[in-house]
Amino acid sequence: MANTNGQSLFRLGIIMSLAGIISLGVMFFWFPPSKNCPPPVFRPNQKSQINSAKSNNSVTEKAEEKPIVLLWVWPENYRFDFSDCKKFYNIDNCHLTDDRALYNDADDVIIFHKAISWDLSNLPPSPRPPFQRWIWLHVESPTNTKKIPGLENLFNLTLSYRHDADIPVRLRLMNNKKPNEDFVIPKKDKLVCWIVSNNSPSTGVDTRNVFYREFSKYIQVTLFGKAYARFLDYNDYYPTMASCKFYLSFENSIHKDYITEKINGPLAAGTVPVVLGPPRRNYENFVPAESFIHVNDFPDAKSLAKYLLYLDKDEDAYRKYFNWRKHLTPSPHLIQQTQEFILPICTACDYVARYKHYKEAHDLYEWYFN
Ligand SMILES: *[C@@H]1O[C@H](CO)[C@@H](O)[C@H](O)[C@H]1NC(C)=O
Ligand SMILES: *[C@@H]1O[C@H](CO)[C@@H](O)[C@H](O)[C@H]1NC(C)=O
Repeated sequence: MANTNGQSLFRLGIIMSLAGIISLGVMFFWFPPSKNCPPPVFRPNQKSQINSAKSNNSVTEKAEEKPIVLLWVWPENYRFDFSDCKKFYNIDNCHLTDDRALYNDADDVIIFHKAISWDLSNLPPSPRPPFQRWIWLHVESPTNTKKIPGLENLFNLTLSYRHDADIPVRLRLMNNKKPNEDFVIPKKDKLVCWIVSNNSPSTGVDTRNVFYREFSKYIQVTLFGKAYARFLDYNDYYPTMASCKFYLSFENSIHKDYITEKINGPLAAGTVPVVLGPPRRNYENFVPAESFIHVNDFPDAKSLAKYLLYLDKDEDAYRKYFNWRKHLTPSPHLIQQTQEFILPICTACDYVARYKHYKEAHDLYEWYFN
Protein backbone atom coordinates (compact mmCIF):
# COMPACT_ATOMS: atom_id res chain seq x y z
CA MET A 1 0.00 0.00 0.00
CA ALA A 2 2.66 2.49 1.09
CA ASN A 3 4.55 1.65 -2.01
CA THR A 4 1.56 2.26 -4.29
CA ASN A 5 0.83 5.52 -2.47
CA GLY A 6 4.38 6.67 -2.99
CA GLN A 7 4.15 5.82 -6.68
CA SER A 8 0.90 7.65 -7.21
CA LEU A 9 2.19 10.68 -5.35
CA PHE A 10 5.22 10.58 -7.61
CA ARG A 11 2.98 10.31 -10.67
CA LEU A 12 0.79 13.12 -9.41
CA GLY A 13 3.91 15.20 -9.00
CA ILE A 14 4.96 14.58 -12.60
CA ILE A 15 1.48 15.30 -13.90
CA MET A 16 1.28 18.56 -11.96
CA SER A 17 4.68 19.71 -13.18
CA LEU A 18 3.78 18.84 -16.76
CA ALA A 19 0.49 20.68 -16.40
CA GLY A 20 2.37 23.66 -15.05
CA ILE A 21 4.83 23.69 -17.92
CA ILE A 22 2.08 23.25 -20.49
CA SER A 23 -0.06 26.03 -19.09
CA LEU A 24 2.92 28.36 -18.97
CA GLY A 25 3.51 27.50 -22.60
CA VAL A 26 -0.09 28.07 -23.50
CA MET A 27 -0.12 31.38 -21.67
CA PHE A 28 3.01 32.42 -23.50
CA PHE A 29 1.49 31.71 -26.89
CA TRP A 30 -1.82 33.27 -26.04
CA PHE A 31 -0.36 36.36 -24.51
CA PRO A 32 3.02 36.77 -26.13
CA PRO A 33 5.10 39.76 -25.18
CA SER A 34 2.95 42.25 -27.01
CA LYS A 35 4.05 43.52 -30.35
CA ASN A 36 0.90 45.60 -30.73
CA CYS A 37 1.66 47.90 -27.87
CA PRO A 38 2.14 51.43 -29.06
CA PRO A 39 5.83 52.15 -29.28
CA PRO A 40 7.21 53.23 -25.94
CA VAL A 41 6.18 56.81 -25.91
CA PHE A 42 8.78 59.32 -25.02
CA ARG A 43 7.01 62.07 -23.25
CA PRO A 44 9.37 64.88 -22.61
CA ASN A 45 8.72 67.36 -19.87
CA GLN A 46 6.52 69.71 -21.87
CA LYS A 47 3.39 67.66 -21.60
CA SER A 48 3.61 67.22 -17.86
CA GLN A 49 4.44 70.88 -17.53
CA ILE A 50 1.29 71.85 -19.33
CA ASN A 51 -0.79 69.83 -16.99
CA SER A 52 0.97 70.37 -13.71
CA ALA A 53 1.26 74.08 -14.24
CA LYS A 54 -2.49 74.20 -14.27
CA SER A 55 -3.33 72.01 -11.35
CA ASN A 56 -2.15 69.79 -8.56
CA ASN A 57 -1.92 66.06 -8.08
CA SER A 58 -5.38 64.64 -8.28
CA VAL A 59 -6.34 66.90 -11.13
CA THR A 60 -2.99 66.43 -12.84
CA GLU A 61 -3.48 62.71 -13.15
CA LYS A 62 -6.76 63.25 -14.93
CA ALA A 63 -5.44 65.99 -17.16
CA GLU A 64 -2.45 63.80 -17.98
CA GLU A 65 -4.74 61.41 -19.81
CA LYS A 66 -5.99 64.10 -22.15
CA PRO A 67 -4.40 63.71 -25.56
CA ILE A 68 -2.75 66.76 -27.04
CA VAL A 69 -4.36 67.72 -30.33
CA LEU A 70 -2.43 70.20 -32.41
CA LEU A 71 -4.28 72.26 -34.98
CA TRP A 72 -1.56 72.76 -37.54
CA VAL A 73 -3.18 75.73 -39.30
CA TRP A 74 -6.42 77.55 -38.63
CA PRO A 75 -8.83 76.55 -41.42
CA GLU A 76 -9.56 79.64 -43.55
CA ASN A 77 -7.98 81.54 -40.68
CA TYR A 78 -11.29 81.31 -38.80
CA ARG A 79 -10.00 81.39 -35.25
CA PHE A 80 -12.02 80.50 -32.21
CA ASP A 81 -11.48 79.93 -28.56
CA PHE A 82 -10.81 76.22 -27.91
CA SER A 83 -13.02 76.47 -24.84
CA ASP A 84 -15.92 76.75 -27.34
CA CYS A 85 -15.85 72.94 -27.53
CA LYS A 86 -16.95 72.83 -23.95
CA LYS A 87 -19.28 75.78 -24.28
CA PHE A 88 -21.19 74.54 -27.34
CA TYR A 89 -20.79 70.77 -27.31
CA ASN A 90 -19.68 69.94 -23.81
CA ILE A 91 -16.48 68.44 -25.23
CA ASP A 92 -13.50 68.81 -22.97
CA ASN A 93 -11.57 65.55 -23.18
CA CYS A 94 -8.53 66.62 -25.16
CA HIS A 95 -5.99 69.38 -24.94
CA LEU A 96 -6.46 71.44 -28.11
CA THR A 97 -3.65 73.75 -29.07
CA ASP A 98 -2.30 75.69 -32.03
CA ASP A 99 1.16 75.94 -30.49
CA ARG A 100 3.57 74.26 -32.87
CA ALA A 101 6.16 74.05 -30.11
CA LEU A 102 4.08 71.13 -28.87
CA TYR A 103 4.47 69.23 -32.14
CA ASN A 104 6.71 66.50 -30.74
CA ASP A 105 4.27 65.92 -27.93
CA ALA A 106 1.08 66.06 -29.93
CA ASP A 107 -0.86 62.80 -29.99
CA ASP A 108 -2.80 63.99 -32.98
CA VAL A 109 -2.31 66.74 -35.54
CA ILE A 110 -5.25 68.15 -37.46
CA ILE A 111 -4.32 69.23 -40.97
CA PHE A 112 -6.73 71.25 -43.06
CA HIS A 113 -6.75 69.95 -46.62
CA LYS A 114 -7.32 73.24 -48.40
CA ALA A 115 -4.35 74.85 -46.67
CA ILE A 116 -1.82 72.23 -47.79
CA SER A 117 0.51 73.75 -50.34
CA TRP A 118 0.92 72.04 -53.69
CA ASP A 119 4.55 71.10 -52.93
CA LEU A 120 3.61 69.88 -49.42
CA SER A 121 6.23 72.21 -47.95
CA ASN A 122 3.92 73.47 -45.20
CA LEU A 123 3.18 70.06 -43.71
CA PRO A 124 4.60 69.31 -40.25
CA PRO A 125 8.31 68.40 -40.21
CA SER A 126 9.97 64.99 -40.16
CA PRO A 127 10.73 62.94 -38.26
CA ARG A 128 7.26 62.44 -37.06
CA PRO A 129 6.74 61.10 -33.53
CA PRO A 130 5.82 57.40 -33.89
CA PHE A 131 2.72 57.61 -31.72
CA GLN A 132 1.33 60.63 -33.57
CA ARG A 133 -1.73 60.44 -35.80
CA TRP A 134 -2.45 62.92 -38.55
CA ILE A 135 -6.05 63.85 -39.14
CA TRP A 136 -7.18 64.93 -42.60
CA LEU A 137 -9.77 67.67 -42.14
CA HIS A 138 -11.95 68.34 -45.14
CA VAL A 139 -15.60 69.34 -45.27
CA GLU A 140 -16.15 70.19 -48.93
CA SER A 141 -17.79 67.82 -51.38
CA PRO A 142 -15.68 66.05 -54.02
CA THR A 143 -16.84 68.59 -56.63
CA ASN A 144 -15.10 71.25 -54.58
CA THR A 145 -11.97 69.32 -53.66
CA LYS A 146 -8.55 69.96 -55.15
CA LYS A 147 -6.45 66.85 -55.59
CA ILE A 148 -3.23 68.03 -54.05
CA PRO A 149 -0.76 65.31 -55.05
CA GLY A 150 1.35 63.25 -52.65
CA LEU A 151 -1.10 62.83 -49.78
CA GLU A 152 -1.03 59.03 -49.87
CA ASN A 153 0.35 57.31 -46.80
CA LEU A 154 0.61 60.43 -44.70
CA PHE A 155 -2.63 60.50 -42.80
CA ASN A 156 -4.15 58.23 -40.20
CA LEU A 157 -7.70 59.46 -39.74
CA THR A 158 -10.21 61.20 -41.97
CA LEU A 159 -12.45 63.95 -40.61
CA SER A 160 -15.33 64.70 -42.95
CA TYR A 161 -19.09 64.93 -43.42
CA ARG A 162 -18.95 61.42 -44.94
CA HIS A 163 -20.69 58.81 -42.87
CA ASP A 164 -17.83 56.37 -43.46
CA ALA A 165 -15.09 58.80 -42.44
CA ASP A 166 -13.05 57.72 -39.43
CA ILE A 167 -14.43 60.78 -37.69
CA PRO A 168 -17.79 61.70 -39.23
CA VAL A 169 -18.98 65.24 -38.52
CA ARG A 170 -22.70 65.77 -38.39
CA LEU A 171 -25.37 67.69 -36.57
CA ARG A 172 -27.64 65.14 -34.99
CA LEU A 173 -31.21 65.17 -33.81
CA MET A 174 -31.52 64.18 -30.17
CA ASN A 175 -33.99 61.61 -28.87
CA ASN A 176 -36.47 63.02 -26.40
CA LYS A 177 -36.53 61.21 -23.09
CA LYS A 178 -40.28 61.43 -23.10
CA PRO A 179 -42.62 62.42 -25.93
CA ASN A 180 -42.81 66.17 -26.33
CA GLU A 181 -46.37 67.30 -27.01
CA ASP A 182 -45.62 71.01 -26.69
CA PHE A 183 -44.08 71.87 -30.02
CA VAL A 184 -45.80 74.83 -31.62
CA ILE A 185 -45.21 75.67 -35.28
CA PRO A 186 -43.86 79.23 -35.45
CA LYS A 187 -46.02 81.93 -37.06
CA LYS A 188 -45.52 82.16 -40.80
CA ASP A 189 -45.71 85.17 -43.08
CA LYS A 190 -43.75 83.84 -46.07
CA LEU A 191 -44.33 80.79 -48.18
CA VAL A 192 -40.97 79.63 -49.58
CA CYS A 193 -37.60 81.10 -48.61
CA TRP A 194 -34.08 80.59 -49.80
CA ILE A 195 -30.82 82.01 -48.50
CA VAL A 196 -28.08 81.86 -51.11
CA SER A 197 -24.61 83.03 -50.28
CA ASN A 198 -22.65 81.17 -52.92
CA ASN A 199 -23.59 81.28 -56.54
CA SER A 200 -20.27 80.60 -58.13
CA PRO A 201 -20.76 78.20 -61.06
CA SER A 202 -17.46 76.43 -60.34
CA THR A 203 -18.87 75.01 -57.12
CA GLY A 204 -21.43 72.88 -58.91
CA VAL A 205 -24.52 75.04 -58.28
CA ASP A 206 -25.85 74.48 -61.78
CA THR A 207 -28.27 71.69 -60.91
CA ARG A 208 -29.96 73.70 -58.23
CA ASN A 209 -30.07 76.86 -60.33
CA VAL A 210 -31.71 75.10 -63.25
CA PHE A 211 -34.28 73.58 -60.92
CA TYR A 212 -34.86 76.89 -59.16
CA ARG A 213 -35.48 78.85 -62.36
CA GLU A 214 -38.22 76.46 -63.38
CA PHE A 215 -39.66 76.14 -59.87
CA SER A 216 -39.91 79.89 -59.29
CA LYS A 217 -42.19 80.27 -62.31
CA TYR A 218 -44.96 78.58 -60.33
CA ILE A 219 -44.54 79.80 -56.77
CA GLN A 220 -43.25 82.84 -54.98
CA VAL A 221 -39.86 82.48 -53.35
CA THR A 222 -38.39 85.04 -50.96
CA LEU A 223 -34.66 85.28 -51.50
CA PHE A 224 -31.96 86.31 -49.06
CA GLY A 225 -28.20 86.23 -48.98
CA LYS A 226 -25.07 87.57 -50.53
CA ALA A 227 -25.91 86.17 -53.95
CA TYR A 228 -29.06 88.32 -54.02
CA ALA A 229 -27.71 91.40 -52.27
CA ARG A 230 -30.11 90.91 -49.39
CA PHE A 231 -27.68 90.01 -46.71
CA LEU A 232 -29.29 88.44 -43.71
CA ASP A 233 -27.82 89.42 -40.38
CA TYR A 234 -26.76 86.43 -38.27
CA ASN A 235 -29.22 87.44 -35.57
CA ASP A 236 -32.02 87.31 -38.10
CA TYR A 237 -31.16 83.88 -39.46
CA TYR A 238 -33.33 81.71 -37.20
CA PRO A 239 -36.27 84.14 -36.85
CA THR A 240 -36.39 84.64 -40.62
CA MET A 241 -36.13 80.92 -41.25
CA ALA A 242 -38.95 80.32 -38.77
CA SER A 243 -41.24 82.79 -40.55
CA CYS A 244 -41.20 80.75 -43.77
CA LYS A 245 -43.42 77.73 -44.36
CA PHE A 246 -40.85 76.06 -46.56
CA TYR A 247 -37.15 76.47 -47.01
CA LEU A 248 -35.10 75.41 -50.03
CA SER A 249 -32.32 73.23 -48.64
CA PHE A 250 -30.51 72.94 -51.95
CA GLU A 251 -26.97 71.59 -51.73
CA ASN A 252 -24.44 73.15 -54.08
CA SER A 253 -23.35 69.78 -55.42
CA ILE A 254 -24.80 66.32 -55.17
CA HIS A 255 -22.86 63.64 -53.35
CA LYS A 256 -23.58 60.82 -50.94
CA ASP A 257 -23.88 62.07 -47.35
CA TYR A 258 -23.35 65.64 -48.46
CA ILE A 259 -26.26 66.89 -46.41
CA THR A 260 -25.26 70.04 -44.67
CA GLU A 261 -26.51 72.64 -42.22
CA LYS A 262 -28.84 73.70 -45.05
CA ILE A 263 -31.33 71.12 -43.78
CA ASN A 264 -30.55 71.58 -40.11
CA GLY A 265 -31.49 75.29 -40.20
CA PRO A 266 -35.15 74.78 -41.17
CA LEU A 267 -35.51 71.68 -38.99
CA ALA A 268 -34.21 73.61 -36.00
CA ALA A 269 -36.29 76.71 -36.78
CA GLY A 270 -39.60 74.88 -37.26
CA THR A 271 -39.80 75.08 -41.06
CA VAL A 272 -40.24 72.32 -43.63
CA PRO A 273 -37.09 71.78 -45.71
CA VAL A 274 -37.45 71.12 -49.41
CA VAL A 275 -34.26 69.28 -50.22
CA LEU A 276 -32.20 68.91 -53.37
CA GLY A 277 -29.17 66.70 -52.95
CA PRO A 278 -28.48 62.97 -52.72
CA PRO A 279 -31.45 60.56 -52.94
CA ARG A 280 -34.17 60.54 -50.30
CA ARG A 281 -32.86 57.25 -48.87
CA ASN A 282 -29.61 58.97 -48.00
CA TYR A 283 -31.42 61.78 -46.17
CA GLU A 284 -33.43 59.22 -44.26
CA ASN A 285 -30.22 57.87 -42.76
CA PHE A 286 -29.99 61.10 -40.82
CA VAL A 287 -33.42 62.70 -40.46
CA PRO A 288 -36.99 61.31 -40.28
CA ALA A 289 -38.59 60.51 -43.64
CA GLU A 290 -41.62 62.69 -42.88
CA SER A 291 -39.66 65.76 -41.79
CA PHE A 292 -38.77 66.99 -45.27
CA ILE A 293 -39.88 67.14 -48.89
CA HIS A 294 -37.50 65.88 -51.57
CA VAL A 295 -37.58 67.46 -55.02
CA ASN A 296 -37.26 63.96 -56.50
CA ASP A 297 -40.58 63.03 -54.89
CA PHE A 298 -42.11 64.90 -57.83
CA PRO A 299 -41.85 64.46 -61.58
CA ASP A 300 -41.00 68.13 -62.11
CA ALA A 301 -40.63 71.55 -60.49
CA LYS A 302 -44.18 72.49 -61.40
CA SER A 303 -45.79 69.62 -59.50
CA LEU A 304 -43.59 70.33 -56.48
CA ALA A 305 -44.81 73.95 -56.52
CA LYS A 306 -48.38 72.73 -56.81
CA TYR A 307 -47.93 70.46 -53.79
CA LEU A 308 -46.50 73.26 -51.66
CA LEU A 309 -49.41 75.51 -52.61
CA TYR A 310 -51.79 72.74 -51.56
CA LEU A 311 -50.00 72.34 -48.18
CA ASP A 312 -50.28 76.10 -47.72
CA LYS A 313 -54.06 75.72 -47.80
CA ASP A 314 -54.32 72.50 -45.81
CA GLU A 315 -53.12 73.10 -42.28
CA ASP A 316 -53.56 69.53 -41.08
CA ALA A 317 -51.50 68.15 -43.93
CA TYR A 318 -48.81 70.75 -43.27
CA ARG A 319 -48.74 70.03 -39.55
CA LYS A 320 -47.92 66.37 -40.21
CA TYR A 321 -44.43 67.45 -41.21
CA PHE A 322 -43.75 68.26 -37.56
CA ASN A 323 -44.95 65.03 -35.95
CA TRP A 324 -41.35 63.87 -35.55
CA ARG A 325 -40.83 66.68 -33.04
CA LYS A 326 -42.59 64.54 -30.50
CA HIS A 327 -39.64 62.16 -30.40
CA LEU A 328 -36.69 64.15 -31.65
CA THR A 329 -35.23 67.56 -30.96
CA PRO A 330 -32.94 69.35 -33.40
CA SER A 331 -30.13 71.55 -32.21
CA PRO A 332 -29.50 74.87 -33.87
CA HIS A 333 -26.09 74.97 -35.51
CA LEU A 334 -23.57 77.79 -35.28
CA ILE A 335 -24.34 80.12 -38.14
CA GLN A 336 -21.42 82.50 -38.47
CA GLN A 337 -19.06 81.62 -41.25
CA THR A 338 -16.09 81.95 -38.90
CA GLN A 339 -17.63 79.21 -36.76
CA GLU A 340 -17.67 76.67 -39.57
CA PHE A 341 -14.85 74.54 -38.21
CA ILE A 342 -15.72 74.52 -34.54
CA LEU A 343 -17.88 71.40 -34.80
CA PRO A 344 -15.37 69.36 -36.88
CA ILE A 345 -12.45 70.27 -34.63
CA CYS A 346 -14.36 69.58 -31.43
CA THR A 347 -15.62 66.29 -32.89
CA ALA A 348 -12.02 65.29 -33.61
CA CYS A 349 -11.02 66.17 -30.07
CA ASP A 350 -13.73 63.98 -28.63
CA TYR A 351 -12.93 61.12 -30.99
CA VAL A 352 -9.21 60.92 -30.35
CA ALA A 353 -9.78 61.03 -26.62
CA ARG A 354 -11.99 57.95 -26.93
CA TYR A 355 -10.28 55.93 -29.63
CA LYS A 356 -6.54 55.52 -29.60
CA HIS A 357 -6.07 52.78 -32.15
CA TYR A 358 -3.41 52.61 -34.82
CA LYS A 359 -4.72 53.49 -38.27
CA GLU A 360 -3.44 54.41 -41.69
CA ALA A 361 -5.35 56.21 -44.41
CA HIS A 362 -3.50 54.98 -47.45
CA ASP A 363 -5.21 56.50 -50.40
CA LEU A 364 -7.43 59.42 -49.47
CA TYR A 365 -8.62 60.20 -52.95
CA GLU A 366 -9.46 56.62 -53.82
CA TRP A 367 -11.80 56.71 -50.84
CA TYR A 368 -13.05 60.24 -51.27
CA PHE A 369 -13.80 60.26 -54.97
CA ASN A 370 -15.15 56.73 -55.37
C1 LIG B 1 -4.45 71.23 -4.53
O1 LIG B 1 -5.77 70.87 -4.21
C2 LIG B 1 -6.16 71.12 -2.90
C3 LIG B 1 -7.60 70.65 -2.71
O2 LIG B 1 -7.77 69.40 -3.29
C4 LIG B 1 -6.04 72.61 -2.59
O3 LIG B 1 -6.34 72.84 -1.22
C5 LIG B 1 -4.63 73.07 -2.88
O4 LIG B 1 -4.55 74.47 -2.71
C6 LIG B 1 -4.24 72.72 -4.30
N1 LIG B 1 -2.86 73.07 -4.55
C7 LIG B 1 -2.44 73.75 -5.61
C8 LIG B 1 -0.97 73.99 -5.70
O5 LIG B 1 -3.20 74.18 -6.47
C1 LIG C 1 -0.03 56.97 -39.27
O1 LIG C 1 -0.01 56.78 -40.65
C2 LIG C 1 1.29 56.72 -41.19
C3 LIG C 1 1.19 56.69 -42.71
O2 LIG C 1 0.13 55.90 -43.15
C4 LIG C 1 2.01 55.51 -40.63
O3 LIG C 1 3.32 55.44 -41.14
C5 LIG C 1 2.05 55.65 -39.12
O4 LIG C 1 2.65 54.52 -38.55
C6 LIG C 1 0.66 55.82 -38.55
N1 LIG C 1 0.75 56.09 -37.13
C7 LIG C 1 -0.20 55.81 -36.22
C8 LIG C 1 0.13 56.12 -34.82
O5 LIG C 1 -1.28 55.33 -36.50
